[in-house]
Amino acid sequence: MASSSRSQFSSRFGFIMAAAGSAVGLGNVWGFPTQAASNGGAVFLIVYLCMVFLLAYPMLVAEMTIGRYGQSNAIRSFRAGWPKGQLGAILLGVVGLVVVSLILSFYAIVAGWLMGSFADSGMNLFGIHDHTHWLTTFSTSRNLILMVTFMLLTMYVVRNGVADGIEKWSTRLMPLLFILFFVLTAYIFTQDGAMEGLKMYLIPDLSHLTPELCVSAMGQAFFSLSLGVCVMTTYGSYLKKDANIPKTAAQVALIDTGVAFTAGLMVLPAMFVAKQNGVQIFSDTGALLNSDTLVFDVLPAMFNTMGIVGALVGAIFFLLMIIAALTSSISMLEVPVSCATEELKLSRNKAVLFIGGLITLVSAIVVVNFSDLFGLVVTFTTVYSQPIIALLITLIVGWIWNRNQILGELKQGCPDIEQGWFWKIWPWYVRVVCPILMLLVFFA
Ligand code: TRP
Repeated sequence: MASSSRSQFSSRFGFIMAAAGSAVGLGNVWGFPTQAASNGGAVFLIVYLCMVFLLAYPMLVAEMTIGRYGQSNAIRSFRAGWPKGQLGAILLGVVGLVVVSLILSFYAIVAGWLMGSFADSGMNLFGIHDHTHWLTTFSTSRNLILMVTFMLLTMYVVRNGVADGIEKWSTRLMPLLFILFFVLTAYIFTQDGAMEGLKMYLIPDLSHLTPELCVSAMGQAFFSLSLGVCVMTTYGSYLKKDANIPKTAAQVALIDTGVAFTAGLMVLPAMFVAKQNGVQIFSDTGALLNSDTLVFDVLPAMFNTMGIVGALVGAIFFLLMIIAALTSSISMLEVPVSCATEELKLSRNKAVLFIGGLITLVSAIVVVNFSDLFGLVVTFTTVYSQPIIALLITLIVGWIWNRNQILGELKQGCPDIEQGWFWKIWPWYVRVVCPILMLLVFFA
């Protein structure tokens, strides 16, 4: 497909908001703080930062570059970078889009819960306490209805395309997210008990440093930057040719990490504020109560102890989570949709309806068999598939894709890249260091 007829993000700001919108999601606002809280706070933070900048950032550049070079959906972009391995490239693309669809199928369920909690806090704010129990109590009907609502929202945005849908909503929602976030963190700091959480988050206790912690931090970094499932490849293909990829990727990684860090600044102190207010956050053995309880029980319990202000703070908190989730879920749906419009020549409308419908169906199956399937899908996709696919993409970029073509692609947005330090380190780094690091962490 000629690059001129292909849709693009209209501005670099728009691209950064969209890519950061994909990266910033439940992984940052929920996953990172809960993992940090249950893995010794500061130590997890440090290992996580190393993982992001030593491992995830170079891979983010690799994924974006191959996408922009291919100027097409993930399948075709991989084929462009691996001309001799067409079958392998197609297979990799297809596996990537299946995995990202599965990720969306569980992501939508969790996002649905958030919508339930948001509606609940909103109604409390207006003094409505009847009939709100259903919204926050685990049941198949609630899970199903809220999940479908969230999927419809995602499909609505993606149906409007790259510039009018994804970019427009990301540039609206992301700044709003930053503002809400800032307000809420500042508020929590004023509460009793917050300092205890802050200490746990910022003062390292090295006894927590274990191989398992490194594996968790790596998984978290990959999930958080949406790596390994063609999201960044697809978004990269909508990036203008004159954009500087290493710089843009660095900005995306910085925003993502900044939000994760701030989420920690908010959630860890909030836990201790909740404890101060008499909410149980640690089990009798001293371990942190599991992660769902933290967001869906502990924090709401804290909001409840704060009366009417609490209902407002709670509503803001959940709104924040929903925004973060939506800008991520649209990036996931875009991957199979871009493949369907370009490979199967479906119209965008039909592709969104068909694929969105299919993912909703899969998600419904997970909801109905929740106890058997939910954990399984999460583990299969995020713990195994994502790092493995990311590794394969890195191998293509490092070993197979022609070095001069990579250089040519990067040069378009950064003419003197060949002389800079980036080009001295990165190709070798992606070729050798990233795979070795990943395998080390895996086998640890
Ligand atoms: N990165 C997002 C988060 O932190 C979630 C996300 C979006 C994602 N696209 C993805 C995760 C692709 C894995 C793969 O919540």
